[in-house]
Amino acid sequence: MEKTASQGTIGEIVAADFRTAKVFEKYKIDFCCGGNVALDSACEKTGINLAAISKELEAVKKSPMDRSQNYAAWELPFLADYIINTHHTYLKENTEQIAAYASKISTVHGPHHPEMIEISKNFDKIATDMAAHLREEEEVFFPAIKRVYAAKKSGSRPLATDLETLKTSFTKLDEEHVLIGDATHAIRHLTNEYVVPADVCNTVMVTYQKLKEFEDDLHKHVHLENNILFLKATLL
Ligand SMILES: [Fe+2]
Repeated sequence: MEKTASQGTIGEIVAADFRTAKVFEKYKIDFCCGGNVALDSACEKTGINLAAISKELEAVKKSPMDRSQNYAAWELPFLADYIINTHHTYLKENTEQIAAYASKISTVHGPHHPEMIEISKNFDKIATDMAAHLREEEEVFFPAIKRVYAAKKSGSRPLATDLETLKTSFTKLDEEHVLIGDATHAIRHLTNEYVVPADVCNTVMVTYQKLKEFEDDLHKHVHLENNILFLKATLL
């Protein structure tokens, strides 16, 4: 029997139809790192009306889905390349610049806005952790996924070392996603949901905009990895 839009974990709901992510964003429900909970439990915990959100989820699913957004239907090697070409490239092009902005506002406004010092520290930690994390995904984990996938598809036996890599890297990378996710949530909290204080310069406005963009991109990135790529890779 087909699941309704509100059955399953939040991660599964978004993996089946990415358009539902917008609804979860609206209700501030985490669908990437914290997506492994059932919708009714999340609603109970946050006081959100289950019937109302279920209705909205059903509504977004009504129009036919464009295959270009149907990530769950893509072959794993294609999805891995897509993640590198969009999300990893975004991070490589933007992380250094955001860290520099955060450092600048920390120096200029830190004396009156100590939260900006904390924002800069949190972002520096993300930037350092992220560089090693991307390297492991691109040089170790994704190539192993591609080799195992190709072997299974051609009917041959995957290398034992690759299967072992899938297991060990999965656990490590998943834990790193949680830590990076926690640090971005801390930044969101420190910025008061990216609301720019009245007494600061334009650099703060640009920094907060970039931090928000960074978090939005990360949500989609981690969702594609945790709820689709990693999950399917462990089932290969
Ligand atoms: Fe990634």
